[in-house]
Amino acid sequence: MKSYITTPIFYVNAQPHLGHAYTAVVADTYHRFKKLCGCQARFQTGTDEHGEKIAAAAVENGITPQAYTDKISAMFRDCWPQLSVEPDNFIRTTDQAHKRVVGEVLQKLYDAGDIVFSDYSGLYCQGCERFMTEKELVDGLCPDHRKAPQEVTESNYFFKMSKYQDWLLKHIEANPEFITPVRYRNEVLSFLREPLEDLCISRPTSRLTWGIPLPFDSNYVTYVWFDALLNYLSGLGYSPNGEVSADFNDYWPVAEHVIAKDILKPHAIFWPTMLRAMGVAPYQRLHVHGYWNINETKMSKSIGNVVKPRDMVAAYGADAARYFMLREMSFGLDASFSDEAGLNRYNADLANDLGNLCSRTMAMVEKFTGGLIPAPPTVETALDAELRIAASGMIQEFKRRMDDFAFHQALRAVWGVISLANKYIVENAPWELAKDAAKRPRLDAVIYNLLEVLRLVALPLHAVMPQTAAKIWETLHITAYPDLLVQGQWGGILAAGTAVKFSGSLFPRLAKKDTAADKNLVKKKDRPVKPQKAGAAHGEPVSFADFQRYDLRVANIVAAEKIAKSKRLVKLTVAAPEERTIVAGIAEHYSPEELVGRQVIIVANLPPAKLMGVVSQGMVLAGKDTGGHLVLATVAGPIPAGSKVA
Ligand code: MSP
Repeated sequence: MKSYITTPIFYVNAQPHLGHAYTAVVADTYHRFKKLCGCQARFQTGTDEHGEKIAAAAVENGITPQAYTDKISAMFRDCWPQLSVEPDNFIRTTDQAHKRVVGEVLQKLYDAGDIVFSDYSGLYCQGCERFMTEKELVDGLCPDHRKAPQEVTESNYFFKMSKYQDWLLKHIEANPEFITPVRYRNEVLSFLREPLEDLCISRPTSRLTWGIPLPFDSNYVTYVWFDALLNYLSGLGYSPNGEVSADFNDYWPVAEHVIAKDILKPHAIFWPTMLRAMGVAPYQRLHVHGYWNINETKMSKSIGNVVKPRDMVAAYGADAARYFMLREMSFGLDASFSDEAGLNRYNADLANDLGNLCSRTMAMVEKFTGGLIPAPPTVETALDAELRIAASGMIQEFKRRMDDFAFHQALRAVWGVISLANKYIVENAPWELAKDAAKRPRLDAVIYNLLEVLRLVALPLHAVMPQTAAKIWETLHITAYPDLLVQGQWGGILAAGTAVKFSGSLFPRLAKKDTAADKNLVKKKDRPVKPQKAGAAHGEPVSFADFQRYDLRVANIVAAEKIAKSKRLVKLTVAAPEERTIVAGIAEHYSPEELVGRQVIIVANLPPAKLMGVVSQGMVLAGKDTGGHLVLATVAGPIPAGSKVA
């Protein structure tokens, strides 16, 4: 089994930030996961170094484009190890080998008649480095750069992209997994149902010289996107003419790309049609994620709210930074970073849940079993069985979710078992068992089961938190690289009597002053200012009679769909037990698929209100932290729909 995962190659006109880091961490996590599944896996990232933006940035910095790209590319290369991101290949588009492949591909398509010379006049956005159609503009402006594109007329070379439109449409329709999540697939399909224009792939040297020269006309350089997309092949040693490399044969058939929604069109339309024209099979899957905002605002250099990966690592450590990114963002949807959200996740999930499980278990081993692994139990109680079944099921669930790029759900599955194990400690009260010699076998069983849970949890964790997993692996003497499904079976811990020792704490609790908020990951001026009423931190007191006027009910979500044109709103059909529609502002926190099947608490007696044309008959309750992060309120266990909350 093989796997090939790539990130976009990042422009060198800006230093790495949280957005770039997220994509890199996603790809690295998937790469590690594939290796845990026994795959021969390859991961490539790099930098995109040609084009107008880079040339302009070099001029601004008063150095040559080559000196400028060398400097910023090195910043990306140096950043990744700080986050334990370990690519097998880091490609630069100024590498000679890459430039050669681009030239050869251009010549091949030109000879085949797929690149033609023509006059063109259109609206050109310098930020996007491409011509835009009228339809793409919002109020006459480029929606991404908020600038009016310039009217440009010039003779250029065009790739006959329209020739491959029908093929691409059919390919996407026949392969539901080609572009995921489905909302992006639908976006591309609707775009492809309109006529596609040919792609301008040259820039006259009178306007731009910082690019790869066209092999058939020295008055032009190559359009940066045509050059950049080819990195995914040139990095494998592909050549359109010469011998095809072993890496190309091995890895191209399993290629998967990770990008954010900003560069969907080049990856979902330009790239597959280019591949088709070259006679190369399309990639397997394109995974599209949303955007990171800071305190609900777009991250941007001009606002000055850019979060740097190295500051995140300094504040929380590499593993915690990786965990935060993957747990906090539902892949495909936008997410927001705030110092408070970072600190809360660290303390709640890492210090309290995982850190405590590890330190409590190890302390018990040291105190009660002389630092040795006890013998496997011969009797299984109901609590033991619950823990064993949950831990074994978690491995399967983790694998399924990771295969689907649902990282937050994969982690939720692992944390479900961590919470259960912490509860198991409380329910079994080992410190009480230790007081009675007759209960020794039971004490051993509890400790054995906890060690086994720790071992099983540390296997999938390697993909997300490699340093933490390594510490647990080392403690439990896991030396050979494990296979998730083989070693993920219950009962695989080392023989009774093996010494295990773990000292220190995985995640010491952080106080606000120790960390991000103090180090100003997000500068103070960008933090939301909350209106404070004197003495009313928890609101004004209300009478019990007033409280009783609210009809709070448990409701089951039976259907959920995003409301078109709204970023925040989801239309829910809930049963309480009669069905009703509720519009909830939770779309940035939960995808519709995640909502169906949940039990939530609703306010059932609010007057109907119309939101974006949909009548909402009630309100869903959720907790909201100071960072604006929402978590739905629910009951602690299943209860019939319609039950009163009192
Ligand atoms: N050079 C092109 C890509 C060519 S790939 C053949 C490019 N570079 S970029 O530096 O602008 O990087 C864009 C990518 O960076 C996004 O697709 C995403 O992976 C990442 N992100 C940049 N800002 C981001 C956020 N605010 N949030 C999430 N990811 C973002 O486009």
